[in-house]
Amino acid sequence: MEQKLFDPTDGSVSTEIYASPAIYEQELQSIFGRSWLFLCPSSEVVGTGSFYSTYMGEDPVIVARQKDGSLKVFLNQCRHRGMRVCTADAGVTRAFTCVYHGWVYGLDGGLAGVPHLADAYFNDLDRSRFGLHEAPRVAEYKGLVFANWDPDAVDFTDYLGDMAWYLDAFLDRWDGGLEAIPGVHKWVINTNWKLPSEQFCGDLYHSETTHVSALMALAGDDADPDEVDPFKSLAGYQFSSPMGHGHGFSIVEYPDFAGPVVDRYRVATLPSAEARLGYYRARMRGHGTVFPNFSFLSGYHTVRAWHPRGPGQVEVWAWGLVPKEAPADVRDAWRKSILQTFSPAGYIEQDDGVNLVEIQRILAGRRARQSRFNVAMALGHEQAPVDGFDGPGRVHNSMFAEMAARGFYSRWGELMRAAPGQNESPARLGADSAQGPSR
Ligand code: FES
Ligand code: FE
Repeated sequence: MEQKLFDPTDGSVSTEIYASPAIYEQELQSIFGRSWLFLCPSSEVVGTGSFYSTYMGEDPVIVARQKDGSLKVFLNQCRHRGMRVCTADAGVTRAFTCVYHGWVYGLDGGLAGVPHLADAYFNDLDRSRFGLHEAPRVAEYKGLVFANWDPDAVDFTDYLGDMAWYLDAFLDRWDGGLEAIPGVHKWVINTNWKLPSEQFCGDLYHSETTHVSALMALAGDDADPDEVDPFKSLAGYQFSSPMGHGHGFSIVEYPDFAGPVVDRYRVATLPSAEARLGYYRARMRGHGTVFPNFSFLSGYHTVRAWHPRGPGQVEVWAWGLVPKEAPADVRDAWRKSILQTFSPAGYIEQDDGVNLVEIQRILAGRRARQSRFNVAMALGHEQAPVDGFDGPGRVHNSMFAEMAARGFYSRWGELMRAAPGQNESPARLGADSAQGPSR
């Protein structure tokens, strides 16, 4: 019998899923057509009429703040002949005017104006039928905007499930919440979107090999090579959600990686964070993914969407987030540390990119596409935390494991197999899928 694309019994993945155009085409429908997708930080769309151009999968969309303060998300495709109706990255407007023949859409997406409606169309065009296509589900969650093409999708907070507890340790650490540092980094990596997204689920195992030279450079000439890697120890945890989300993290007393100015700020705000979130969440540091393609780093403070661009390419859109209440010198120090580490020119980002591009390049080979990858670390050895860690859901008592990767691919397989309309019933939420300890 043909082996499954992902086999949870032995933790193996077919390399086809990263290279096959047919699988990619199905993903656009089965994964990106019915999952909650990250669009932008809320701070990019603040006042009435503010808008932001981004993507849901390969579909260009516009996020627009309405007069009543709500958000609408429109497909950026003119209903006449398909040109973008918004060619700007962001701004403030009262309407979107197509640059091809001049159809005008209001902020609410309705078709408000058509040149020569009377003399060329003989008034024989029902404008009410030609508004912009709209994503039926939009959610703002603690400073982030998500949307879903599936009208029957579960609410976003149900979609997050236990992941909310972990995500909040990052998003909700300070009273005023987080906001984006102005500007966004966009760059292309020639790799399949699942490789970085799954890596952020919980792969901290690569750090001591992949990142050691970058971490030594950051630490300075006198650093001990055995001491520079903060993820050298297995001490920490990994969380895996049945919805495909994952998080790998350690529990640390700051200082962190972002330099003395940020360190002092984090230490000074630790008591209020602990009062707000409890002992463990005030000290969590690591990276995570909200399935399918939103990832965050809670130490370096960046978030990113891995926008798919064919089976062999991903377009990364990354923002730096800082506490709204942070003083200017702290924000600036954080900005510089993000530029230095996780940005298109960042030391650490470059390390990861080299691996991901090379893996994809190898998959051009015929034989390479017939092999399977191994995501079996700690399979059958998942252990619930033994030291009082109180996070919900399936948690493994070590940072080094591929439990979250298996959760990611299990969810991926489930959606790829499911017929439309069978995506994520509330009954499915919280169900265990034989991936690890359930608490
Ligand atoms: Fe937009 Fe014709 S394509 S007005
Ligand atoms: Fe890395």
